[in-house]
Amino acid sequence: PTMLGTAAAALLGMVMFGGAAVAADPVTLKLGYSLPATSHYGVGAQAFADALAEKTDGRFKVEMFPSNALGGEREMIEGAQFGTIDLVVTSTGPVGNFVPETLVFDIPFLFRDYAHARGVLDGEIGQEVLDKFPERGLIALAWAENGFRHLTNSKQAVTEPEDVKGLKIRTMQNDVHMRAFTTLGALPTPMAFPEVFTALQQHTIDGQENPIPVIVSGNFAQVQKYLSLTGHVYSPALFIMAPSRWEELSDEDKAAFKAAAKIGANAMRKQVETFEADGIAKLEAAGMTVVEHPDKARFLEELKPAYAEYEKRFDPELIKRIRDWK
Ligand code: PAF
Repeated sequence: PTMLGTAAAALLGMVMFGGAAVAADPVTLKLGYSLPATSHYGVGAQAFADALAEKTDGRFKVEMFPSNALGGEREMIEGAQFGTIDLVVTSTGPVGNFVPETLVFDIPFLFRDYAHARGVLDGEIGQEVLDKFPERGLIALAWAENGFRHLTNSKQAVTEPEDVKGLKIRTMQNDVHMRAFTTLGALPTPMAFPEVFTALQQHTIDGQENPIPVIVSGNFAQVQKYLSLTGHVYSPALFIMAPSRWEELSDEDKAAFKAAAKIGANAMRKQVETFEADGIAKLEAAGMTVVEHPDKARFLEELKPAYAEYEKRFDPELIKRIRDWK
């Protein structure tokens, strides 16, 4: 074709497509998390992606990286800070190393039940903490959920605080949790989640603690004989976003991301409940011995020195506001 012919064809093309809204390629965002795609994180992340696509007419596409494909939680949060990962669904485990204000929620036995924890996080107090993220180089879109954590180990049934003494327990990289286990006489070992199964298998550690859905999906029954339903701490999760990505968004899109994260969080919470409904039975069937009612009053008593420290470290008024929430 002649130059003129090509130009005419291009012009014709423009005319033909002119007027029709030709969608540009969607912006693809990388989202990482530590659990399998079938987990509560996977369900929540997918609900977020679907809601986001719907709210932005398909202008944003979320590419999923489950099962630690982008690293452990601490690494992924660093990736969001640097802008190498766009979105992360993470427990608050390591988040306190970046935004210390989140650590108050990691105090053991702070929340009575799911309604209490969700109510506090979705209310004024939760919002105050979300607002602290930007000054630490992160964006938190919404609170989500990992669940109440329970203790497993390979040595003995844990009913009383004394049963924990001397146990090597993997904790998250969270010094509020570590302080609690030290106070009980355990030997807490902070470790990134991707290393936990092998460490349990090789007996470099005796136990770990996680919500029921994680214990099930992580196949921990293969390497842990005892489960105690301690519910010793509530583990919130978060939708985190890279500030570099966030700043590119229009105000309208920012609102869409936040609303989609809320939808994702609700789906995740629902899935936690679904998994918890039959999780304990599954673990029993897989051979675990379950202590259903460990002596919570005695655990609280033994944790008193840790609470004295938390009262110094955090605003006692804030702790009271959280405890008294109705
Ligand atoms: O134990 C942890 O590190 C977390 O609970 C996990 C399993 C990565 C989920 O956020």
